[in-house]
Amino acid sequence: MPGLFTPLLLGIASAFVVSSVRADSPINPGFPYGSEKVRGVNIGGWLVLEPWITPSLFDNTGNDAIVDEWTFGKLQDRSTAQAALKQHWDTFYTETDFGDIAAAGLNLVRLPIGYWAFEVGPGEPYIQGQLPYLQKAIGWAGKYGLKVVIDLHGAPGSQNGYDNSGERISFPTWHTNATNVARTNAILKTIAEMFTSNPTVVPLIAPLNEPAGYVGADMLQVVKQYWRDSYGSIRYPHNSQESNTVVLIHDAFQTASYWSGFMTPPKFQGVAIDTHIYQVFSNSEVALSQNQHIALACNQSATLKEYDLNVIVGEWAPAITDCATYLNGRGIGARYDGTHSNSRRVGSCTGMSGSADTFSADYKMFLRKFWEAQVTAYETGAGWIQWLWKTEAGTGEEWAYASGLQYGWIPRNPTDRQYPRICPN
Ligand SMILES: *[C@@H]1O[C@H](CO)[C@@H](O)[C@H](O)[C@H]1NC(C)=O
Ligand SMILES: *[C@@H]1O[C@H](CO)[C@@H](O)[C@H](O)[C@H]1NC(C)=O
Repeated sequence: MPGLFTPLLLGIASAFVVSSVRADSPINPGFPYGSEKVRGVNIGGWLVLEPWITPSLFDNTGNDAIVDEWTFGKLQDRSTAQAALKQHWDTFYTETDFGDIAAAGLNLVRLPIGYWAFEVGPGEPYIQGQLPYLQKAIGWAGKYGLKVVIDLHGAPGSQNGYDNSGERISFPTWHTNATNVARTNAILKTIAEMFTSNPTVVPLIAPLNEPAGYVGADMLQVVKQYWRDSYGSIRYPHNSQESNTVVLIHDAFQTASYWSGFMTPPKFQGVAIDTHIYQVFSNSEVALSQNQHIALACNQSATLKEYDLNVIVGEWAPAITDCATYLNGRGIGARYDGTHSNSRRVGSCTGMSGSADTFSADYKMFLRKFWEAQVTAYETGAGWIQWLWKTEAGTGEEWAYASGLQYGWIPRNPTDRQYPRICPN
């Protein structure tokens, strides 16, 4: 629907918005979306643990049953776990990283945080202490002129069952239990109260990462109501007074047409949609050739034009394999080399993941092309946020923006192109 699509994140063409009954007033966002694309990175694996981003944190426990932040708190000595977390929070990200991100020409970071940073229920083994680091990170972002998306990445009961929701379980239970949802609403209100007063540094809040819409209509029903409730919390944090903070809803793995007309202007103001685009989480995708990966990336520009809300590609990466250690979960292998159950081997993982020192010149040239194809396509929408800024040294470096800068497959200025005609349109 190109007629409805506007490169302005918020449909800032407020003068043209005919006010209708109960329409909210157009907002004044803390980001020049009209003139600037979102170009950002995710601060993954810091305030929410993911085994593949910091394998050593998990390996050092000596316990193979520790596979996520829940079991990290549950299955080892409490003070050992606390000390390891504190050490991780103190060192994995520091002010230097935020300075480096800004120096790379990026304008935004997305910062995942789990519900347990705000509230831990009875019997839940999570260890708290993340909040002061979130506050510090917002201070660093402000100092270097970066914008921040606060992203609630894990909800009680888990909204997707992935380890990155805090709890790796076979079926999400967030949506099947009204207490879980009520707790999430309360936590989101707390987040809104804490951060909507600072829209210059925190222009967007993402109420929930990747709810698993594919599990069925019951989940989608709960998600849609949760987005409406989140709108109230974020856009009206103090009831009558409207904020300038944008609500960034996730597509719950549904298509643009599914969300057509959902929370759109003029009735709703300050809503954007987040979609995540990976090409490594199925057998058919890891089997694609390099040229097919690039063609698929280029094709996303057509898909992004179908949204009637402004769309940010809030997660994506130059990876073309699932070879990074623990990427599919601690103890689970890779589809690419056939070590994942129900997979068919495509090739060896050697030289495809791990330390970028092992990457061939050809592979790095491909990573550069694939990176350029993706950012070119995603800038058809409101912009992009790569997953992620960095990994533990020597692991999964094909995902890491910092490694890309160091080894040259990502340009020092994100608008530079070596392959300006990589996408044929
Ligand atoms: C619902 O979730 C809460 C935690 O949010 C838990 O205490 C309660 O036992 C759950 N209820 C059921 C029926 O599973
Ligand atoms: C890209 O889109 C075109 C047109 O819709 C289609 O013919 C082609 O098969 C797509 N290519 C890929 C790799 O998805």
